[in-house]
Amino acid sequence: MTASIRPLVAGNWKMNGLSSDLAELKEMAAGFEDASGGAADGLICTPATLIERAVRAVDGTALAIGGEDCHANETGAHTGDVSAEMIADCGASHVIVGHSERRTDHAETDEMVAEKAKAVWRGGLVAIICIGETEAQRKANETLDVLAQQIAGSVPDSANAENSVVAYEPVWAIGTGLTPTANDVAEAHAHIRERLIERLGDNGKTVRILYGGSVKPSNADELMAVENVNGALIGGASLKAADFLGIAKTYRG
Ligand code: PGA
Repeated sequence: MTASIRPLVAGNWKMNGLSSDLAELKEMAAGFEDASGGAADGLICTPATLIERAVRAVDGTALAIGGEDCHANETGAHTGDVSAEMIADCGASHVIVGHSERRTDHAETDEMVAEKAKAVWRGGLVAIICIGETEAQRKANETLDVLAQQIAGSVPDSANAENSVVAYEPVWAIGTGLTPTANDVAEAHAHIRERLIERLGDNGKTVRILYGGSVKPSNADELMAVENVNGALIGGASLKAADFLGIAKTYRG
Protein backbone atom coordinates (compact mmCIF):
# COMPACT_ATOMS: atom_id res chain seq x y z
CA MET A 1 0.00 0.00 0.00
CA THR A 2 2.73 2.46 0.97
CA ALA A 3 4.74 1.73 -2.18
CA SER A 4 2.34 3.83 -4.23
CA ILE A 5 2.51 6.85 -1.92
CA ARG A 6 5.13 9.39 -2.93
CA PRO A 7 7.04 10.33 0.22
CA LEU A 8 7.40 13.86 1.60
CA VAL A 9 10.55 15.10 3.31
CA ALA A 10 9.39 18.13 5.28
CA GLY A 11 11.35 20.51 7.49
CA ASN A 12 9.98 22.59 10.35
CA TRP A 13 12.22 25.52 11.17
CA LYS A 14 10.13 26.48 14.23
CA MET A 15 11.20 29.90 15.65
CA ASN A 16 14.45 29.90 13.72
CA GLY A 17 15.38 31.67 10.53
CA LEU A 18 16.65 35.11 9.50
CA SER A 19 17.65 36.60 6.15
CA SER A 20 21.10 35.20 6.81
CA ASP A 21 19.70 31.65 6.73
CA LEU A 22 18.38 31.94 3.18
CA ALA A 23 21.75 30.80 1.84
CA GLU A 24 21.32 27.50 3.71
CA LEU A 25 17.81 27.18 2.27
CA LYS A 26 19.12 27.80 -1.25
CA GLU A 27 21.66 25.03 -0.75
CA MET A 28 18.88 22.64 0.28
CA ALA A 29 16.78 23.64 -2.72
CA ALA A 30 19.68 23.25 -5.14
CA GLY A 31 20.56 19.78 -3.80
CA PHE A 32 17.16 18.26 -3.09
CA GLU A 33 16.40 16.68 -6.46
CA ASP A 34 19.77 15.01 -6.59
CA ALA A 35 19.75 13.93 -2.92
CA SER A 36 16.29 12.33 -3.15
CA GLY A 37 16.86 10.96 -6.64
CA GLY A 38 13.61 12.68 -7.60
CA ALA A 39 11.78 10.04 -5.55
CA ALA A 40 10.32 12.33 -2.88
CA ASP A 41 8.71 15.74 -2.48
CA GLY A 42 10.59 18.33 -0.43
CA LEU A 43 9.21 21.07 1.79
CA ILE A 44 10.57 23.53 4.33
CA CYS A 45 8.11 25.24 6.69
CA THR A 46 9.47 28.57 7.92
CA PRO A 47 8.34 31.29 10.32
CA ALA A 48 5.74 33.58 8.74
CA THR A 49 8.27 36.39 8.55
CA LEU A 50 10.45 34.41 6.16
CA ILE A 51 7.89 32.68 3.91
CA GLU A 52 7.84 35.16 1.06
CA ARG A 53 11.63 35.43 0.85
CA ALA A 54 11.97 31.65 1.21
CA VAL A 55 9.56 31.16 -1.70
CA ARG A 56 11.73 33.45 -3.83
CA ALA A 57 14.90 31.70 -2.69
CA VAL A 58 13.69 28.25 -3.84
CA ASP A 59 12.03 29.45 -7.05
CA GLY A 60 12.58 27.02 -9.92
CA THR A 61 13.67 24.14 -7.66
CA ALA A 62 11.89 21.02 -6.37
CA LEU A 63 11.63 22.42 -2.84
CA ALA A 64 8.32 23.89 -1.66
CA ILE A 65 7.74 26.30 1.23
CA GLY A 66 5.13 26.11 3.98
CA GLY A 67 3.97 27.92 7.10
CA GLU A 68 4.01 26.56 10.65
CA ASP A 69 0.58 27.62 11.89
CA CYS A 70 -2.37 29.80 10.94
CA HIS A 71 -5.45 31.33 12.51
CA ALA A 72 -8.78 29.62 11.80
CA ASN A 73 -10.31 32.83 10.40
CA GLU A 74 -9.58 34.52 7.10
CA THR A 75 -9.36 38.11 8.42
CA GLY A 76 -10.34 40.02 11.52
CA ALA A 77 -9.37 41.47 14.87
CA HIS A 78 -6.70 38.92 15.84
CA THR A 79 -3.58 40.95 16.55
CA GLY A 80 -0.39 39.09 15.76
CA ASP A 81 -2.03 36.16 13.95
CA VAL A 82 -1.77 35.25 10.28
CA SER A 83 -4.42 33.54 8.16
CA ALA A 84 -3.99 30.69 5.69
CA GLU A 85 -4.90 33.17 2.94
CA MET A 86 -1.95 35.38 3.97
CA ILE A 87 0.38 32.40 3.92
CA ALA A 88 -0.96 31.39 0.49
CA ASP A 89 -0.49 34.98 -0.67
CA CYS A 90 3.22 34.63 0.17
CA GLY A 91 3.45 31.65 -2.21
CA ALA A 92 3.48 28.79 0.32
CA SER A 93 1.87 25.42 -0.42
CA HIS A 94 1.47 23.80 3.02
CA VAL A 95 0.75 24.80 6.62
CA ILE A 96 1.53 22.74 9.73
CA VAL A 97 -1.36 22.68 12.20
CA GLY A 98 -1.56 21.22 15.70
CA HIS A 99 2.17 20.82 16.26
CA SER A 100 2.68 19.67 19.86
CA GLU A 101 4.49 22.94 20.63
CA ARG A 102 1.36 24.84 19.57
CA ARG A 103 -0.84 22.45 21.54
CA THR A 104 1.36 23.04 24.62
CA ASP A 105 2.38 26.71 24.28
CA HIS A 106 -1.01 27.94 23.04
CA ALA A 107 -3.36 25.36 24.56
CA GLU A 108 -4.62 24.29 21.15
CA THR A 109 -7.27 21.57 21.34
CA ASP A 110 -8.14 18.93 18.75
CA GLU A 111 -11.20 20.98 17.86
CA MET A 112 -9.10 24.09 17.21
CA VAL A 113 -6.65 22.06 15.16
CA ALA A 114 -9.49 20.72 12.99
CA GLU A 115 -10.73 24.29 12.44
CA LYS A 116 -7.23 25.34 11.43
CA ALA A 117 -6.95 22.41 9.02
CA LYS A 118 -10.18 23.55 7.36
CA ALA A 119 -8.81 27.09 7.24
CA VAL A 120 -5.72 25.79 5.44
CA TRP A 121 -7.96 24.15 2.82
CA ARG A 122 -10.03 27.34 2.51
CA GLY A 123 -6.75 29.07 1.64
CA GLY A 124 -6.12 26.46 -1.05
CA LEU A 125 -3.19 24.87 0.80
CA VAL A 126 -2.29 21.45 2.20
CA ALA A 127 -2.63 20.93 5.97
CA ILE A 128 0.03 18.95 7.82
CA ILE A 129 -1.93 17.79 10.86
CA CYS A 130 0.28 16.76 13.80
CA ILE A 131 -0.59 14.17 16.41
CA GLY A 132 1.45 12.30 19.00
CA GLU A 133 1.48 11.04 22.58
CA THR A 134 3.36 12.49 25.55
CA GLU A 135 5.90 10.50 27.54
CA ALA A 136 3.38 10.00 30.37
CA GLN A 137 0.78 8.70 27.94
CA ARG A 138 3.27 6.27 26.42
CA LYS A 139 4.30 5.02 29.87
CA ALA A 140 0.64 4.50 30.72
CA ASN A 141 0.17 2.45 27.52
CA GLU A 142 -2.25 5.03 26.17
CA THR A 143 -0.43 5.76 22.90
CA LEU A 144 -2.85 4.08 20.51
CA ASP A 145 -5.92 5.49 22.29
CA VAL A 146 -4.46 9.00 22.26
CA LEU A 147 -3.71 8.76 18.55
CA ALA A 148 -7.24 7.52 17.82
CA GLN A 149 -8.69 10.41 19.82
CA GLN A 150 -6.48 12.98 18.12
CA ILE A 151 -7.39 11.64 14.68
CA ALA A 152 -11.09 11.70 15.57
CA GLY A 153 -10.80 15.28 16.84
CA SER A 154 -8.15 16.94 14.67
CA VAL A 155 -8.66 15.44 11.21
CA PRO A 156 -11.75 16.86 9.49
CA ASP A 157 -14.08 14.48 7.62
CA SER A 158 -13.14 15.71 4.17
CA ALA A 159 -9.41 15.13 4.53
CA ASN A 160 -7.78 13.38 1.59
CA ALA A 161 -4.33 12.89 0.10
CA GLU A 162 -4.55 16.14 -1.88
CA ASN A 163 -5.46 18.43 0.99
CA SER A 164 -3.87 16.77 4.02
CA VAL A 165 -0.84 15.04 5.46
CA VAL A 166 -0.80 13.51 8.94
CA ALA A 167 2.42 13.75 10.97
CA TYR A 168 2.95 11.36 13.86
CA GLU A 169 5.31 13.01 16.32
CA PRO A 170 5.70 11.42 19.75
CA VAL A 171 6.08 14.49 21.99
CA TRP A 172 8.89 12.85 23.97
CA ALA A 173 10.90 12.29 20.78
CA ILE A 174 10.78 15.92 19.61
CA GLY A 175 14.11 17.65 20.02
CA THR A 176 15.36 15.05 22.50
CA GLY A 177 17.45 12.76 20.31
CA LEU A 178 15.19 9.91 21.42
CA THR A 179 13.17 7.90 18.90
CA PRO A 180 10.72 5.04 19.22
CA THR A 181 11.91 1.65 17.99
CA ALA A 182 11.09 0.73 14.41
CA ASN A 183 8.52 -1.71 15.81
CA ASP A 184 6.83 1.01 17.85
CA VAL A 185 6.77 3.31 14.82
CA ALA A 186 5.29 0.48 12.72
CA GLU A 187 2.59 -0.15 15.32
CA ALA A 188 1.68 3.54 15.61
CA HIS A 189 1.62 4.12 11.84
CA ALA A 190 -0.44 0.97 11.16
CA HIS A 191 -2.91 2.15 13.80
CA ILE A 192 -3.05 5.65 12.30
CA ARG A 193 -3.61 4.15 8.83
CA GLU A 194 -6.46 1.99 10.13
CA ARG A 195 -8.11 4.91 11.92
CA LEU A 196 -7.77 7.11 8.81
CA ILE A 197 -9.39 4.44 6.63
CA GLU A 198 -12.16 3.97 9.20
CA ARG A 199 -12.78 7.70 9.19
CA LEU A 200 -12.13 8.71 5.58
CA GLY A 201 -12.83 5.50 3.66
CA ASP A 202 -10.65 5.01 0.59
CA ASN A 203 -9.20 8.52 1.03
CA GLY A 204 -7.58 7.26 4.21
CA LYS A 205 -5.50 4.79 2.20
CA THR A 206 -3.49 7.45 0.41
CA VAL A 207 -3.04 10.25 2.97
CA ARG A 208 0.67 10.50 3.72
CA ILE A 209 1.65 9.67 7.29
CA LEU A 210 4.96 11.30 8.23
CA TYR A 211 7.08 10.31 11.19
CA GLY A 212 8.61 13.18 13.18
CA GLY A 213 10.79 13.38 16.27
CA SER A 214 14.60 13.43 16.23
CA VAL A 215 14.90 12.29 12.60
CA LYS A 216 18.49 12.69 11.42
CA PRO A 217 20.67 11.29 8.64
CA SER A 218 21.88 8.46 10.89
CA ASN A 219 18.41 7.07 11.67
CA ALA A 220 16.46 8.09 8.55
CA ASP A 221 17.10 4.86 6.65
CA GLU A 222 15.65 2.75 9.44
CA LEU A 223 12.68 5.01 10.25
CA MET A 224 11.70 5.78 6.65
CA ALA A 225 11.76 2.06 5.72
CA VAL A 226 8.97 1.29 8.19
CA GLU A 227 5.64 0.26 6.66
CA ASN A 228 3.17 3.16 6.44
CA VAL A 229 5.87 5.79 7.02
CA ASN A 230 5.49 8.09 4.02
CA GLY A 231 8.18 10.60 4.85
CA ALA A 232 9.47 12.72 7.70
CA LEU A 233 8.75 15.94 9.56
CA ILE A 234 12.14 17.21 10.65
CA GLY A 235 12.90 19.93 13.18
CA GLY A 236 16.52 20.45 14.22
CA ALA A 237 18.03 18.52 11.33
CA SER A 238 16.15 20.68 8.80
CA LEU A 239 18.17 23.76 9.70
CA LYS A 240 21.35 22.56 7.99
CA ALA A 241 21.44 21.62 4.31
CA ALA A 242 23.85 18.74 4.91
CA ASP A 243 21.48 17.13 7.45
CA PHE A 244 18.27 17.77 5.51
CA LEU A 245 19.78 16.45 2.27
CA GLY A 246 21.34 13.56 4.19
CA ILE A 247 17.84 12.53 5.25
CA ALA A 248 16.43 13.01 1.72
CA LYS A 249 19.10 10.61 0.46
CA THR A 250 17.27 7.72 2.07
CA TYR A 251 14.88 7.86 -0.94
CA ARG A 252 17.52 7.86 -3.65
CA GLY A 253 17.54 4.07 -3.79
P1 PGA B 1 13.00 17.45 15.86
O1 PGA B 1 11.56 18.17 15.72
O2 PGA B 1 13.31 16.82 14.54
O3 PGA B 1 13.94 18.56 16.23
O4 PGA B 1 12.84 16.41 16.93
C1 PGA B 1 10.53 17.58 14.98
C2 PGA B 1 9.32 18.48 14.98
O5 PGA B 1 9.00 19.06 16.03
O6 PGA B 1 8.65 18.63 13.94
